[in-house]
Amino acid sequence: MPGRGTEAGPGLEEAGLRLDVEGPVATLTLNRPERRNAMTFAMWHAMAAVGRSLPEDVRVVVVRGAGPSFSAGIDLGMFAPGGEGERRFSGGADPAEADRFIAGLQEGFTWLRRPGVVSVAAVHGHAIGAGFQLALSCDIRVIADDTSFCMKEPALGLVPDLTGTKPLVEIVGVPRALELCLTARTVGAEEAARLGLAEIVTPRDGLDAAVRGLVDSLLAVNAGAAAATKRLLWQAPERTLEEQAAAERHEQIGRLRELFASRP
Ligand code: CAA
Repeated sequence: MPGRGTEAGPGLEEAGLRLDVEGPVATLTLNRPERRNAMTFAMWHAMAAVGRSLPEDVRVVVVRGAGPSFSAGIDLGMFAPGGEGERRFSGGADPAEADRFIAGLQEGFTWLRRPGVVSVAAVHGHAIGAGFQLALSCDIRVIADDTSFCMKEPALGLVPDLTGTKPLVEIVGVPRALELCLTARTVGAEEAARLGLAEIVTPRDGLDAAVRGLVDSLLAVNAGAAAATKRLLWQAPERTLEEQAAAERHEQIGRLRELFASRP
Protein backbone atom coordinates (compact mmCIF):
# COMPACT_ATOMS: atom_id res chain seq x y z
CA MET A 1 0.00 0.00 0.00
CA PRO A 2 1.54 3.33 -0.96
CA GLY A 3 2.28 5.49 2.05
CA ARG A 4 2.75 9.24 2.42
CA GLY A 5 4.45 10.93 -0.46
CA THR A 6 7.34 13.32 -0.11
CA GLU A 7 8.22 16.38 -2.11
CA ALA A 8 10.35 13.96 -4.19
CA GLY A 9 7.11 12.15 -5.06
CA PRO A 10 6.37 13.59 -8.51
CA GLY A 11 8.76 12.24 -11.07
CA LEU A 12 9.62 9.12 -9.12
CA GLU A 13 7.46 6.87 -11.23
CA GLU A 14 8.84 8.28 -14.47
CA ALA A 15 12.34 7.70 -13.10
CA GLY A 16 11.52 4.04 -12.42
CA LEU A 17 11.24 4.30 -8.65
CA ARG A 18 8.55 3.75 -6.10
CA LEU A 19 8.63 5.11 -2.57
CA ASP A 20 6.39 3.77 0.18
CA VAL A 21 6.59 5.43 3.56
CA GLU A 22 4.83 3.67 6.42
CA GLY A 23 5.56 5.47 9.70
CA PRO A 24 9.26 5.08 10.46
CA VAL A 25 9.97 2.78 7.51
CA ALA A 26 10.56 3.94 3.93
CA THR A 27 10.80 1.37 1.16
CA LEU A 28 12.48 2.51 -2.03
CA THR A 29 11.80 0.10 -4.89
CA LEU A 30 13.71 0.10 -8.16
CA ASN A 31 10.74 -0.39 -10.40
CA ARG A 32 11.75 -1.16 -13.98
CA PRO A 33 11.45 -4.94 -13.83
CA GLU A 34 11.14 -5.22 -17.62
CA ARG A 35 14.67 -3.73 -17.82
CA ARG A 36 15.88 -5.67 -14.77
CA ASN A 37 15.85 -2.35 -12.88
CA ALA A 38 18.60 -0.91 -15.05
CA MET A 39 19.38 2.53 -13.68
CA THR A 40 19.39 5.84 -15.52
CA PHE A 41 20.77 9.28 -14.67
CA ALA A 42 17.17 10.33 -13.98
CA MET A 43 16.79 7.48 -11.50
CA TRP A 44 19.93 8.50 -9.60
CA HIS A 45 18.80 12.14 -9.48
CA ALA A 46 15.42 10.96 -8.19
CA MET A 47 17.15 8.82 -5.54
CA ALA A 48 19.08 11.91 -4.39
CA ALA A 49 15.80 13.83 -4.20
CA VAL A 50 14.29 11.06 -2.07
CA GLY A 51 17.24 11.39 0.31
CA ARG A 52 16.80 15.16 0.55
CA SER A 53 13.06 15.02 1.20
CA LEU A 54 12.69 11.96 3.40
CA PRO A 55 10.35 12.66 6.34
CA GLU A 56 12.36 13.28 9.50
CA ASP A 57 10.67 10.49 11.43
CA VAL A 58 11.83 7.80 8.99
CA ARG A 59 14.35 5.61 10.79
CA VAL A 60 14.83 2.68 8.41
CA VAL A 61 15.12 2.75 4.62
CA VAL A 62 14.74 -0.52 2.74
CA VAL A 63 16.05 -0.57 -0.84
CA ARG A 64 14.73 -3.35 -3.04
CA GLY A 65 14.17 -4.27 -6.67
CA ALA A 66 10.93 -5.27 -8.39
CA GLY A 67 10.86 -8.37 -10.57
CA PRO A 68 13.54 -11.00 -11.08
CA SER A 69 16.63 -8.88 -10.30
CA PHE A 70 17.72 -6.28 -7.75
CA SER A 71 19.39 -4.31 -10.56
CA ALA A 72 21.26 -4.95 -13.82
CA GLY A 73 23.30 -1.77 -13.22
CA ILE A 74 23.52 1.23 -15.44
CA ASP A 75 21.07 1.35 -18.34
CA LEU A 76 23.33 0.44 -21.21
CA GLY A 77 21.04 2.39 -23.52
CA MET A 78 22.68 5.55 -22.15
CA PHE A 79 25.94 4.49 -23.81
CA ALA A 80 24.31 4.18 -27.23
CA PRO A 81 25.84 6.35 -29.98
CA GLY A 82 24.50 9.90 -29.55
CA GLY A 83 22.94 8.98 -26.21
CA GLU A 84 23.04 11.05 -23.02
CA GLY A 85 26.28 9.40 -21.84
CA GLU A 86 28.13 10.38 -24.99
CA ARG A 87 26.70 13.89 -24.94
CA ARG A 88 27.80 14.48 -21.37
CA PHE A 89 31.17 12.77 -21.32
CA SER A 90 32.67 12.82 -24.81
CA GLY A 91 35.83 14.83 -25.57
CA GLY A 92 33.99 18.10 -26.16
CA ALA A 93 32.26 18.07 -22.77
CA ASP A 94 33.51 20.38 -19.99
CA PRO A 95 35.36 18.21 -17.40
CA ALA A 96 34.28 20.45 -14.50
CA GLU A 97 30.66 20.12 -15.57
CA ALA A 98 31.11 16.34 -15.94
CA ASP A 99 32.55 16.22 -12.42
CA ARG A 100 29.59 18.17 -11.02
CA PHE A 101 27.19 15.90 -12.87
CA ILE A 102 28.68 12.70 -11.44
CA ALA A 103 28.75 14.28 -7.96
CA GLY A 104 25.00 14.82 -8.34
CA LEU A 105 24.52 11.16 -9.28
CA GLN A 106 26.60 10.03 -6.30
CA GLU A 107 24.23 11.93 -3.99
CA GLY A 108 21.66 9.32 -4.90
CA PHE A 109 23.76 6.81 -2.98
CA THR A 110 25.57 8.67 -0.17
CA TRP A 111 22.50 9.68 1.83
CA LEU A 112 21.94 6.03 2.68
CA ARG A 113 24.88 6.31 5.11
CA ARG A 114 23.29 9.26 6.97
CA PRO A 115 23.30 8.57 10.75
CA GLY A 116 19.58 9.28 11.23
CA VAL A 117 18.51 6.28 9.15
CA VAL A 118 19.60 2.67 8.93
CA SER A 119 19.58 1.55 5.31
CA VAL A 120 18.90 -2.06 4.42
CA ALA A 121 19.46 -3.49 0.95
CA ALA A 122 17.07 -6.37 0.25
CA VAL A 123 18.82 -8.06 -2.66
CA HIS A 124 17.76 -10.89 -4.92
CA GLY A 125 18.80 -12.04 -8.38
CA HIS A 126 21.41 -9.97 -10.18
CA ALA A 127 23.11 -6.98 -8.56
CA ILE A 128 25.49 -5.84 -11.27
CA GLY A 129 27.70 -2.75 -11.48
CA ALA A 130 25.70 0.19 -10.16
CA GLY A 131 23.30 -2.35 -8.63
CA PHE A 132 26.13 -3.87 -6.60
CA GLN A 133 27.27 -0.36 -5.63
CA LEU A 134 23.76 0.50 -4.46
CA ALA A 135 23.70 -2.57 -2.24
CA LEU A 136 27.14 -1.58 -0.91
CA SER A 137 25.86 1.93 -0.14
CA CYS A 138 23.43 0.51 2.39
CA ASP A 139 24.40 -0.16 6.00
CA ILE A 140 23.19 -3.76 6.00
CA ARG A 141 22.57 -6.28 3.20
CA VAL A 142 19.94 -9.00 3.44
CA ILE A 143 20.25 -11.25 0.41
CA ALA A 144 18.28 -14.08 -1.11
CA ASP A 145 20.12 -17.27 -1.93
CA ASP A 146 19.73 -16.56 -5.67
CA THR A 147 21.72 -13.31 -5.39
CA SER A 148 24.76 -12.73 -7.56
CA PHE A 149 26.99 -9.68 -7.22
CA CYS A 150 29.26 -8.49 -10.04
CA MET A 151 31.36 -5.33 -10.28
CA LYS A 152 31.30 -5.18 -14.03
CA GLU A 153 32.52 -1.62 -14.65
CA PRO A 154 36.20 -2.38 -15.40
CA ALA A 155 35.14 -5.00 -17.94
CA LEU A 156 33.26 -2.21 -19.72
CA GLY A 157 36.25 0.15 -19.60
CA LEU A 158 34.85 2.09 -16.63
CA VAL A 159 35.49 2.37 -12.90
CA PRO A 160 32.89 1.87 -10.15
CA ASP A 161 32.11 5.54 -9.41
CA LEU A 162 28.84 5.47 -7.53
CA THR A 163 30.60 5.43 -4.14
CA GLY A 164 30.91 1.64 -4.08
CA THR A 165 34.70 1.34 -3.91
CA LYS A 166 34.99 2.58 -0.32
CA PRO A 167 32.47 0.21 1.26
CA LEU A 168 33.78 -2.65 -0.87
CA VAL A 169 37.33 -2.11 0.43
CA GLU A 170 36.06 -1.60 3.98
CA ILE A 171 34.32 -4.96 3.80
CA VAL A 172 36.68 -7.21 1.85
CA GLY A 173 40.05 -5.36 1.85
CA VAL A 174 42.03 -4.05 -1.11
CA PRO A 175 43.38 -7.37 -2.50
CA ARG A 176 39.96 -9.06 -2.64
CA ALA A 177 38.34 -5.87 -3.97
CA LEU A 178 40.95 -5.79 -6.74
CA GLU A 179 40.35 -9.42 -7.55
CA LEU A 180 36.56 -8.93 -7.69
CA CYS A 181 36.65 -5.73 -9.73
CA LEU A 182 39.42 -6.58 -12.16
CA THR A 183 38.04 -9.99 -13.01
CA ALA A 184 34.43 -8.71 -12.96
CA ARG A 185 33.52 -12.17 -11.76
CA THR A 186 30.21 -13.09 -10.24
CA VAL A 187 29.94 -13.73 -6.51
CA GLY A 188 27.08 -15.97 -5.42
CA ALA A 189 25.16 -15.67 -2.16
CA GLU A 190 27.20 -18.21 -0.22
CA GLU A 191 30.53 -16.58 -1.08
CA ALA A 192 29.04 -13.12 -0.52
CA ALA A 193 28.15 -14.11 3.03
CA ARG A 194 31.62 -15.57 3.57
CA LEU A 195 33.24 -12.33 2.36
CA GLY A 196 31.03 -10.21 4.63
CA LEU A 197 29.08 -8.74 1.71
CA ALA A 198 25.82 -9.92 3.28
CA GLU A 199 24.72 -9.91 6.90
CA ILE A 200 21.77 -12.23 6.35
CA VAL A 201 21.20 -14.86 3.64
CA THR A 202 17.74 -16.28 3.25
CA PRO A 203 15.84 -18.52 0.81
CA ARG A 204 14.34 -16.41 -1.98
CA ASP A 205 10.79 -16.76 -0.68
CA GLY A 206 11.89 -15.73 2.82
CA LEU A 207 13.49 -12.40 1.82
CA ASP A 208 10.56 -10.15 2.71
CA ALA A 209 10.06 -11.85 6.07
CA ALA A 210 13.78 -11.65 6.87
CA VAL A 211 13.80 -7.92 6.07
CA ARG A 212 10.67 -7.35 8.16
CA GLY A 213 12.23 -9.17 11.11
CA LEU A 214 15.40 -7.09 10.85
CA VAL A 215 13.46 -3.84 10.53
CA ASP A 216 11.39 -4.67 13.62
CA SER A 217 14.56 -5.31 15.60
CA LEU A 218 16.15 -2.07 14.38
CA LEU A 219 13.07 -0.08 15.35
CA ALA A 220 13.01 -1.59 18.83
CA VAL A 221 16.19 0.34 19.70
CA ASN A 222 16.04 3.96 20.94
CA ALA A 223 16.26 6.28 17.89
CA GLY A 224 18.85 8.64 19.37
CA ALA A 225 21.05 5.78 20.52
CA ALA A 226 20.80 4.19 17.07
CA ALA A 227 21.90 7.37 15.29
CA ALA A 228 24.76 8.03 17.73
CA THR A 229 25.97 4.43 17.50
CA LYS A 230 25.84 4.49 13.69
CA ARG A 231 27.92 7.69 13.73
CA LEU A 232 30.46 6.08 16.06
CA LEU A 233 30.76 2.83 14.13
CA TRP A 234 31.11 4.31 10.64
CA GLN A 235 33.68 6.85 11.80
CA ALA A 236 35.72 4.33 13.84
CA PRO A 237 37.98 3.12 10.99
CA GLU A 238 39.15 6.69 10.25
CA ARG A 239 40.11 7.46 13.87
CA THR A 240 42.88 6.56 16.30
CA LEU A 241 41.87 4.70 19.46
CA GLU A 242 42.20 7.92 21.45
CA GLU A 243 40.03 9.85 19.00
CA GLN A 244 37.42 7.11 19.01
CA ALA A 245 37.42 6.96 22.82
CA ALA A 246 36.82 10.73 22.89
CA ALA A 247 34.00 10.35 20.36
CA GLU A 248 32.40 7.64 22.51
CA ARG A 249 32.54 9.94 25.56
CA HIS A 250 31.02 12.80 23.58
CA GLU A 251 28.15 10.66 22.26
CA GLN A 252 27.53 9.04 25.65
CA ILE A 253 27.31 12.35 27.49
CA GLY A 254 24.71 13.43 24.91
CA ARG A 255 22.79 10.20 25.42
CA LEU A 256 22.89 10.41 29.22
CA ARG A 257 21.74 14.04 29.20
CA GLU A 258 18.82 13.14 26.99
CA LEU A 259 17.87 10.09 29.05
CA PHE A 260 17.92 12.03 32.31
CA ALA A 261 16.02 14.93 30.74
CA SER A 262 13.26 12.54 29.67
CA ARG A 263 12.66 11.33 33.25
CA PRO A 264 9.40 12.52 34.74
N1 CAA B 1 20.57 -1.78 -19.50
C1 CAA B 1 19.53 -1.75 -20.35
N2 CAA B 1 18.68 -2.79 -20.54
C2 CAA B 1 18.91 -3.91 -19.81
C3 CAA B 1 19.97 -4.01 -18.91
C4 CAA B 1 20.84 -2.87 -18.75
N3 CAA B 1 21.86 -2.87 -17.87
N4 CAA B 1 19.95 -5.23 -18.33
C5 CAA B 1 18.89 -5.88 -18.88
N5 CAA B 1 18.28 -5.08 -19.76
C6 CAA B 1 17.10 -5.40 -20.60
C7 CAA B 1 17.47 -6.42 -21.67
O1 CAA B 1 18.03 -5.78 -22.79
C8 CAA B 1 16.12 -7.05 -21.94
O2 CAA B 1 15.39 -6.19 -22.78
P1 CAA B 1 14.43 -6.83 -23.95
O3 CAA B 1 13.34 -7.55 -23.19
O4 CAA B 1 13.96 -5.62 -24.68
O5 CAA B 1 15.28 -7.75 -24.74
C9 CAA B 1 15.44 -7.02 -20.57
O6 CAA B 1 16.13 -6.04 -19.78
C10 CAA B 1 15.56 -8.34 -19.84
O7 CAA B 1 16.91 -8.71 -19.84
P2 CAA B 1 17.38 -10.23 -20.08
O8 CAA B 1 16.47 -10.90 -21.05
O9 CAA B 1 18.85 -10.18 -20.40
O10 CAA B 1 17.11 -10.83 -18.63
P3 CAA B 1 17.83 -12.03 -17.90
O11 CAA B 1 17.08 -12.19 -16.62
O12 CAA B 1 18.00 -13.18 -18.80
O13 CAA B 1 19.32 -11.49 -17.56
C11 CAA B 1 20.93 -9.91 -16.69
C12 CAA B 1 19.49 -10.47 -16.62
C13 CAA B 1 21.94 -11.00 -16.30
C14 CAA B 1 20.96 -8.78 -15.68
C15 CAA B 1 21.26 -9.43 -18.12
O14 CAA B 1 20.16 -8.65 -18.61
C16 CAA B 1 22.51 -8.58 -18.22
O15 CAA B 1 23.62 -9.12 -18.23
N6 CAA B 1 22.35 -7.24 -18.32
C17 CAA B 1 23.46 -6.33 -18.52
C18 CAA B 1 24.21 -6.09 -17.21
C19 CAA B 1 25.31 -5.06 -17.37
O16 CAA B 1 26.29 -5.26 -18.07
N7 CAA B 1 25.14 -3.89 -16.67
C20 CAA B 1 26.10 -2.83 -16.66
C21 CAA B 1 26.87 -2.88 -15.34
S1 CAA B 1 28.16 -1.73 -15.26
C22 CAA B 1 27.52 -0.35 -14.51
O17 CAA B 1 26.52 -0.41 -13.84
C23 CAA B 1 28.33 0.90 -14.81
C24 CAA B 1 28.30 2.03 -13.88
O18 CAA B 1 27.66 2.09 -12.87
C25 CAA B 1 29.18 3.17 -14.19
